[in-house]
Amino acid sequence: VLPDTCDFTVFGGTGDLALRKLLPALYHRDLEGQLPGDYRILGVSMSDLDADGWRDQVRAALRTHVDPTDLYDGAIDRFLGRLHHLRLDAQNPEDWDRLHALLKDRPNPEAAVRVFYLAVAPRLFGAICQRLDEIGVVDEHARVVLEKPIGHDLASAREVNDAVGRVFEESRIFRIDHYLGKESVQNLLVTRFANTFLEPLWSSHWVDHVQITVSETVGVGGRGAYYDHAGALRDMVQNHLLQLLCLVAMEPPTYVGRETVRDEKLKVLQALKPMTPTDVDHDTVRGRYAAGLVDGEPVPSYSDDLGHSGSRTETFVALKTEVQNWRWAGVPFYLRTGKRMDRRVSEIVVVFKQPPHSMFPGAEGATPPNRLHILVQPDEGMRLHLTAKEPGPGGYRLRPVSLDLRYAAAFDVRLPDAYERLLMDVIRGNPTLFMRRDEVEAAWTWTEPILQRWASSPDRPKRYAAGTDGPTAAATLLERDGRTWQEPD
Ligand code: BG6
Repeated sequence: VLPDTCDFTVFGGTGDLALRKLLPALYHRDLEGQLPGDYRILGVSMSDLDADGWRDQVRAALRTHVDPTDLYDGAIDRFLGRLHHLRLDAQNPEDWDRLHALLKDRPNPEAAVRVFYLAVAPRLFGAICQRLDEIGVVDEHARVVLEKPIGHDLASAREVNDAVGRVFEESRIFRIDHYLGKESVQNLLVTRFANTFLEPLWSSHWVDHVQITVSETVGVGGRGAYYDHAGALRDMVQNHLLQLLCLVAMEPPTYVGRETVRDEKLKVLQALKPMTPTDVDHDTVRGRYAAGLVDGEPVPSYSDDLGHSGSRTETFVALKTEVQNWRWAGVPFYLRTGKRMDRRVSEIVVVFKQPPHSMFPGAEGATPPNRLHILVQPDEGMRLHLTAKEPGPGGYRLRPVSLDLRYAAAFDVRLPDAYERLLMDVIRGNPTLFMRRDEVEAAWTWTEPILQRWASSPDRPKRYAAGTDGPTAAATLLERDGRTWQEPD
């Protein structure tokens, strides 16, 4: 339910995430008239800015990150009029008092839904929540949004969850995984469960294996300090890729409800085959980009991006896992993600088995097996690769063909950014697309043995040139199973 009144407070209000994603998303929702009639956005940061200073920053950010066709001077001014900024030094009690005063300084403050978006380092989550509680602004309408990473391993994730949980009950904690807000990712549920033709095939009976690729062309840029402590496994696999895997592999819930979908995803995470140290050595590959060419432009190595060498952090991961349950037993799930790859593409490929018998003479194995490519980004859609007869009188010549669906063309609308949907869900109080505590912890439970083995192993991440598809060992991971990575569509 959309509240009438809302105060949306962003800790880290001048940060990259706020300026690049959160404020443009809120601007779009404002433009559509979807935000509560009476709302304010409060940016909290260490910067010495007054409200106008922050508005100028946000205006510049909108001009950079919003499509020019959606920028209207009147709408921008109206939106900026909702913005306030507070300089807050967490150690200074007076600053917290000023936050309290600001939140109370509105008509009917008790009725306002207060959202606290913590776009700051996770080590601050607990302390900020505690302070909010102490100054008396956490009431039964208040909710908190946590950006990933939630901790850097299971123990630290539990600490964060415990600390936040002392102030906010679980139903008021929104742990963002922005992949769940992507249109194409939500559509996965619809594709699977609002159609009949896929689900009977969606199991080890007919699926040979599944591939999930999230490749990026960007490097770590200015985020080196964070990234070097995280690495690709923590930054991408533990959350985004595992969430995609969950949506591919989960059982159908009876309805889409705030707990039902999350219950089913949790079961998938709990069914992932635990990795022993030997499995880690055998079934995972880590890489790190060296200098190379991306889109024809020379780019520096990871060490040069960081400004020092000697790091053991991976910027690429490929791995093989399995969902150990009735539906998926024996079906490998191959996951890979990396920075500075040859192209930006996220895609899930379900590779089906070949037909059990070939009735066309000489055609066994002549065409590749059926594959469903679910295109998560940048060109959201689906492509189904099939076999067809080549036209002509010369008998049965089989050829691969494809059926193509692109959402932008099918619906002829702008596809909203993931944050637009997710921020509206927070304001409305719908946690379905957010990660529940048990999911985050189950994901860490599975990830941790890999981290531990890597930390104790003398091996280093394998080198790959920027602008390629990763280290050769990633290809070998599939080739030794008689498979290959599918070229992204
Ligand atoms: C973030 C990671 O969660 O996701 C970044 O921290 C990554 O390293 C980003 O670049 C990718 O998101 P998207 O939406 O561009 O695929």
